Amino acid sequence: MAEHQELTKTTPKEFALATLGGLFAPALAIFLIVMLVLSIQSRLGEQDAEAIADKAVRERIKPFGVSVALDPNVPRVEMSGEQVYNEVCANCHGSGALGSPKHKDAGAWSKRIAQGWATLLNHALNGFNKMPARGGEPDLSDLEVARAVAFMTNAAGAKFEPVLKKEVEPTAAELARGKVVYAENCASCHDSGVTGAQKLTDAKAWEPLLKQGKDYLYAAAIKGTLGGPAKGGNDKLSDADTRLAVDYMVDVARISVAQAAKAADKKAAK
Ligand code: HEC
Ligand code: HEC
Repeated sequence: MAEHQELTKTTPKEFALATLGGLFAPALAIFLIVMLVLSIQSRLGEQDAEAIADKAVRERIKPFGVSVALDPNVPRVEMSGEQVYNEVCANCHGSGALGSPKHKDAGAWSKRIAQGWATLLNHALNGFNKMPARGGEPDLSDLEVARAVAFMTNAAGAKFEPVLKKEVEPTAAELARGKVVYAENCASCHDSGVTGAQKLTDAKAWEPLLKQGKDYLYAAAIKGTLGGPAKGGNDKLSDADTRLAVDYMVDVARISVAQAAKAADKKAAK
């Protein structure tokens, strides 16, 4: 009996350990559960914060005059250049983020302004390097973007009117003249694609070029590019005739791009 009692008798030390263990096991479990809940909550919190920020942005850039119920009969009132600048463009141009020309910094803008209104507007509408199309806000109208470009450039010394110049389409006679100039001065490279010239039938090569707009293409053809000689290498060619050749090239290239898009649609439909 005495021996048996010896075996089961707990020493004060053992008792203390057992008590501590008994106390801490549930405490540890509770602690882990709390940590888990907290981590889930904080993750949810991030998502909420994003959703709220997103909604706040949409709310802020919502055009004025659109009723909360988005009544389609209420005419959409366009924002002023300053409003568009504050809501969208200032995100980068306010600080010069991503290498953007900073607002009111005449030095940063002077060379860009010298490119002329059409190029600036084209780059703002269609994007340019790290400059996203419409400042990354596709809901902005052409006119709103134009107003913002005028607002920013005029604050840096320009005197632009926010006009939306539609590209003037060449007449049939002009296209006919362009075709002749092209055949004499440009076809040697652009018919075959020799030396890397964009073939008129190469939709892939022309799609991005067409997006640059005609002002860019005229300038590229007249002044030359890295690979393309100025005026096709014929310095007697007038600027006007070079432009007509570009008009003709664009006309043909547009057909190539449209045909390629149609073919891709057909393939997708199959
Ligand atoms: C996400 C940042 C960002 C936002 C937002 C942004 N821009 Fe820009 N923008 C740039 C950068 C970067 C450049 C410089 C691009 C370069 O020269 O390579 C630039 C350049 C420009 C230029 C000069 C283009 C040229 O040909 O030199 C214009 C004009 C312009 N932005 C207009 C706007 C307008 C208008 C808005 C608002 C609707 C806007 N930007 C919003 C980043 C931005
Ligand atoms: C000796 C060959 C050659 C001739 C002739 C030539 N080009 Fe080009 N052209 C090129 C090459 C190469 C490129 C591609 C340049 C590049 O990728 O920068 C090009 C590009 C172009 C581009 C697109 C600009 C760009 O950013 O790539 C236009 C527009 C153009 N040429 C117009 C003309 C016109 C108009 C003529 C006739 C007046 C002409 N070219 C004659 C070789 C030629």
